[in-house]
Amino acid sequence: MLHVTKVDLFHGASQALRQVGLTARVGQITCVLGRNGVGKSSLMRAVVGLQAVASGRLVWENRDITHLPAHARARSGIAYVPQGREIFPLLTVEENLQTGFAPLPRALRHVPDEIFELFPVLRDMLARRGGDLSGGQQQQLAIARALVTRPRLLVLDEPTEGIQPNLIQEIERVIRLLAARGTMAILLVEQYFEFARALADAFVVLDRGEVVMAGTAGELRENEVRRHLTV
Ligand SMILES: Nc1ncnc2c1ncn2[C@@H]1O[C@H](COP(=O)(O)OP(=O)(O)OP(=O)(O)O)[C@@H](O)[C@H]1O
Ligand SMILES: [Mg+2]
Repeated sequence: MLHVTKVDLFHGASQALRQVGLTARVGQITCVLGRNGVGKSSLMRAVVGLQAVASGRLVWENRDITHLPAHARARSGIAYVPQGREIFPLLTVEENLQTGFAPLPRALRHVPDEIFELFPVLRDMLARRGGDLSGGQQQQLAIARALVTRPRLLVLDEPTEGIQPNLIQEIERVIRLLAARGTMAILLVEQYFEFARALADAFVVLDRGEVVMAGTAGELRENEVRRHLTV
């Protein structure tokens, strides 16, 4: 379980997060919703250790990780699929997957077969350069690279951004399957209400750096959430 409590975060002098809290449970999909620029990515970067918080606490599996560097959080089972995917365009698909090995002990430094069961297209493209893949395939690669680390917390920042509808369904299917295994907490940033409604067990809505709504899927009131998503 991930517990975020009362996080304040700044970019220079401007405050991006104010007293933000959330809980992400293993076996569940926790969805962070909010319009452009409200602080969703800042929050994800704070969770994975790429952005320092000014105050507040992050606790993962009963351990305080607030001041743990990103590589140590990766070793503690936290994996990150960044917004915009950030795959390496000049490396092959296989090499991109191998970049996920960094936090792993030597014995685990191989790509599990199940990754190709989740994303069969990647097996056929192992020798292709990342930059030659379509946007949707790059997103699948970015998720696969995160899964190579065998995470227990998977953080996905807008995995559907700029992706064709058929691949959105494909990604939705994989995320649902991963959650159903019950071994992983999934923290998912989304701007599309439909995608969030289809997947979320719990949700948090951010507006201007603050949590304005939070609850379980059953408590998700479409009208109220949409009010915070439309400009
Ligand atoms: N590195 C940075 N330096 C300065 N300001 C930043 C930086 N990163 C983000 N910001 C600002 O912090 C605020 C929150 O940004 P953030 O990227 O967290 O929002 P977001 O909800 O992920 O937006 P989007 O929906 O566009 O991805 C924005 O006003 C943004 O301009
Ligand atoms: Mg963002």
